[in-house]
Amino acid sequence: MADSKKTANLTIGDQSYELPIHSPTVGPDVLDIRKLYSQAGVFTYDPGFTSTAACNSTITYIDGEEGILLHRGYPIDQLAGKSHYLEVCFLLLYGHLPTGKELEDFENRVTNHTMLHEQMQHFFRGFRRDAHPMAIMVGVVGAMSAFYHDSTDINDPWQREVASIRLIAKMPTIAAWAYKYHIGQPFVYPRNDLDYASNFLRMCFAVPAEEYEVNPILSRAMDRIFTLHADHEQNASTSTVRLASSSGANPFACIAAGIACLWGQAHGGANQACLEMLKEIGTPENIPEYIARAKDKNDPFRLMGFGHRVYKNFDPRATVMKQSADKVLELLGVENNPILATAKALEEAALADPYFAEKKLFPNVDFYSGIILEAMGFPTSMFTPIFALSRTVGWISQWKEMLDDPQNKIGRPRQLYRGETERDYVDIENR
Ligand code: SDX
Repeated sequence: MADSKKTANLTIGDQSYELPIHSPTVGPDVLDIRKLYSQAGVFTYDPGFTSTAACNSTITYIDGEEGILLHRGYPIDQLAGKSHYLEVCFLLLYGHLPTGKELEDFENRVTNHTMLHEQMQHFFRGFRRDAHPMAIMVGVVGAMSAFYHDSTDINDPWQREVASIRLIAKMPTIAAWAYKYHIGQPFVYPRNDLDYASNFLRMCFAVPAEEYEVNPILSRAMDRIFTLHADHEQNASTSTVRLASSSGANPFACIAAGIACLWGQAHGGANQACLEMLKEIGTPENIPEYIARAKDKNDPFRLMGFGHRVYKNFDPRATVMKQSADKVLELLGVENNPILATAKALEEAALADPYFAEKKLFPNVDFYSGIILEAMGFPTSMFTPIFALSRTVGWISQWKEMLDDPQNKIGRPRQLYRGETERDYVDIENR
């Protein structure tokens, strides 16, 4: 890290401490507190890490106040409009937009790793049919460490590279097979003559009994959804992957930990929860009741798909997703989709309500994605697996960056202890 010339002064009692300040290329300065405990004997306290920078990174930048999202400096709306998911994967992994040759080579490497070891099918068959696909993904991705021993040594750059390609390539197959197992249909194998998004749609919706033609507008929309979810700085699941990786765990175990964290409805599970909420609301006439519940401190109900830890403005991904929703629903002839009507009425009502304006609660990426996915034929249980599939490249890129960071060390937060001080054991007869 560049030597900092700026410092901050901290006074505790009659002692003063100088804390170095580091300046980013863009965004807020950071106070370097690494020596605080050894110098002043105090910890900082920041549950949920609302004001804590946990690492150096060059991958993604978010300005929550302005609603800006950059991947390696490129704005998300430009990438969503002009690029495609595997090119964005290359950008996130290697830091630059690929030449034609680089992209062709990268896409070939991914395409040629999309199949799973045949024995892994037994893992799917061990689950109950009604298992949530996220439960299957956590299990199967973790189990990859039992099959791909030649790409688990994190100290070998080549093995790190192979593990990265394998995970990006195989996640669509794993997600599609989790879906097929759930609905009792046979697994559909990937095809090397299809692009990434088309391959996924075919593995999900094709059946052996007939040919399946991928609709190019749907595969473009699918690819855009993958791109919009690819990475997002140090969110909960990415931080989980980094923390798991900091102990030296293998990449498959770390990504499985990220999938588990993403499952929560405050995070990646919000797209499923949002669509279920819209269905529960039913018609726009019921919206005032739900807005009132969301504002009621005694009611745990929250508007799923609204609010964000970082964005205090529109989530730029939601804006792109909303445009996609209109196109996909029009293509499918369901532009009069009652759920979309309710979603738009809810968005208008919430944005017009002072509570949401004061708390800066705007629609996030999960608000519209579920509507598109449902219109494409996915059950709500597949929404978060699709988020996990998309985010794998972000987890992997951050994982690689952390392993290459000379400041990388095992993550081990401290605490504000409020328990009992030392006391002697009391024999049971004296209690
Ligand atoms: C993702 O971090 C990332 O980058 C995540 C993500 C990514 O790409 O990785 O962007 C993906 O997870 C998007 C977020 C999806 N989650 C949801 O849509 C679930 C609904 N949203 C909330 O649970 C909430 O907004 C969070 C979890 C997203 C953010 O919560 P924070 O930052 O911890 O904020 P908070 O819970 O402290 O809320 C601040 C205030 C509270 O009121 P007060 O205590 O100040 O009175 O706003 C209220 C909250 O009650 N509030 C909401 C609300 N979200 C926050 N009230 C009603 N509805 C909501 N959705």
